[in-house]
Amino acid sequence: MIVHVFENAAQVARAAAALFTAQILKKPDSVLGLATGSTPIDTYQELIRLHKDGILDFSRVTTFNLDEYVGLPADHEQSYDYFMRQQLFSHINIKSTHLPSGIAPDMTQECRDYEELIKQAGGIDLQLLGIGNNGHIGFNEPADAFPYNTNITSLADSTIKANRRFFTSEDEVPKTAISMGIGTIMEARSILLLAMGEGKADAILQMVEGPITPRLPASILRSHPSVTVLLDKAAASKLSC
Ligand code: PGA
Repeated sequence: MIVHVFENAAQVARAAAALFTAQILKKPDSVLGLATGSTPIDTYQELIRLHKDGILDFSRVTTFNLDEYVGLPADHEQSYDYFMRQQLFSHINIKSTHLPSGIAPDMTQECRDYEELIKQAGGIDLQLLGIGNNGHIGFNEPADAFPYNTNITSLADSTIKANRRFFTSEDEVPKTAISMGIGTIMEARSILLLAMGEGKADAILQMVEGPITPRLPASILRSHPSVTVLLDKAAASKLSC
C-alpha cells in the first residue's frame, strides 16, 4: 500500500485524475471500478475537464460501480445510477457503464449476474474507492467475516446517519444495498482509495496501522499488491508517520 498525503482535497482530486489518465492512456479499453459519495466528485470534475480538453477518450472504457441502494430505481435522484449520470457519465463520451440494479426482481440473481458481467469484461483494471467513517468499502460494513462476492448488505447505523444528508429525513435512507464484495474489490488489478477530511482520520489510521480485520473492512487492502491511497492532510492527521 502506497500512501500519499497532499495539502488539500483539490490536490487529491488532481492526483487521482492523473492516475486515471495514465490508466486510460496505457489501456484505452480499460475496465474501471467507480464509486459514489462525496469523495470522488472532484475527481470526476477533473476527468470531465480532461475529456473536454481532448486528453481523455472514454469511448472504449467500461465501468462498473461498487454499489446501489436496494429499492431505488435508476431515475430516483438519490440512486447511485442517477448520481453517476449527473456527476460523470452524461459529460463524457462513455458507452459501457454498469451499476448493480437496486430493483431487480431477484436480487440474489442480480448479485450473481453482476459478478459474471465483471468477469466477462475481463476483470477490473483500476478500482476507485472512498472509505466510510467506520472503515467500510463499497457497502461492506464492519462484520465478523469479509463478504466475498457481490452481496445484499444491511447499512450500519453510522452509514445511515452519514448518508442522511442526501435525503430529506433519516427514514428515507434505504437500509439495504447491493454491493461488490470484498473479494470482488480485491480482484481488481489496481486499487485507488481517496479520503479527505478529519472525519476519515480514524478509519485511515486503522486501515494503515491497525490489524487486518473484517471489523475494519478497508484494512484488507493492505494485503493487495497494488493499492494507492491519496489523502489530504486532515484525513492523514492521525497517522504515525
Ligand atoms: P463519502 O462516502 O465519499 O460520501 O464520504 C464514502 C463511503 O461511504 O464509502
